[in-house]
Amino acid sequence: MEVVIQDDAGELGRLGAKAVIDTLANTPDAVLGLATGSSPVSIYDAVAAAVAAGSVSLARSSAFTLDEYVGLPPGHPQSYRSVILRDFVDKVDLDPGRLHTPDGAAADIPAACAAYEGQIADAGGIDLQILGIGADGHVAFNEPGSSLASRTRIKTLTQQTRVDNARFFDGDVDAVPSHCVTQGVGTIMQARHLLLIASGRHKAQAVHQLVEGPITAMWPASVLQLHPHVTVLVDRAAASRL
Ligand code: GLP
Repeated sequence: MEVVIQDDAGELGRLGAKAVIDTLANTPDAVLGLATGSSPVSIYDAVAAAVAAGSVSLARSSAFTLDEYVGLPPGHPQSYRSVILRDFVDKVDLDPGRLHTPDGAAADIPAACAAYEGQIADAGGIDLQILGIGADGHVAFNEPGSSLASRTRIKTLTQQTRVDNARFFDGDVDAVPSHCVTQGVGTIMQARHLLLIASGRHKAQAVHQLVEGPITAMWPASVLQLHPHVTVLVDRAAASRL
């Protein structure tokens, strides 16, 4: 695990974008794993700037997102598909037809989850997976207690995560769905390179457990210690407990 600590949180986005750009330089048809949340936005903005400048292209790549709410109508502005289109895909030259997102509106959710795993496998697996981390150590929507071998499945959101995410639903916790579909920890661990970005003191305990804690399902991100190629980008505040 490589841990890169920067004084300036803005620099994290530039370094993260460099990892994306290097991956695409080596593998123009790379399969990217995209995370929603505020943390990766600086990476997406820096990649979009590079695309606009003509120094990189995603025209041959494809992408898979990590997770989706259950119960939001398709096209809802806070569905993670809408968010990743707005935050990233609409700003770059990735074909939206090659953006894959878990289907939280499927009539048969377990079948849709199995199909999503199949799509990732058919694409040859994920070359570079961008990740954020929850303050409680969750990755994607794998909350504390998630099986470290888990695959894409339906999960119940913790009340804390619903409270945290209420800011995207006009502050109304009751409007935040109670369930989600998420790639499992085991799914995420199969990506060839994991790039996790975190900033702020509220992430310091999670970053400590990720890097230095015992491997435990109570801090799902801690299992990344077993992955052969992980890059962790953190600012001083997020690194303050290392
Ligand atoms: C959500 C997402 C995670 C994300 C986390 C942290 O729960 N499902 O993928 O990592 O929030 O979000 P942020 O980066 O906004 O702190």
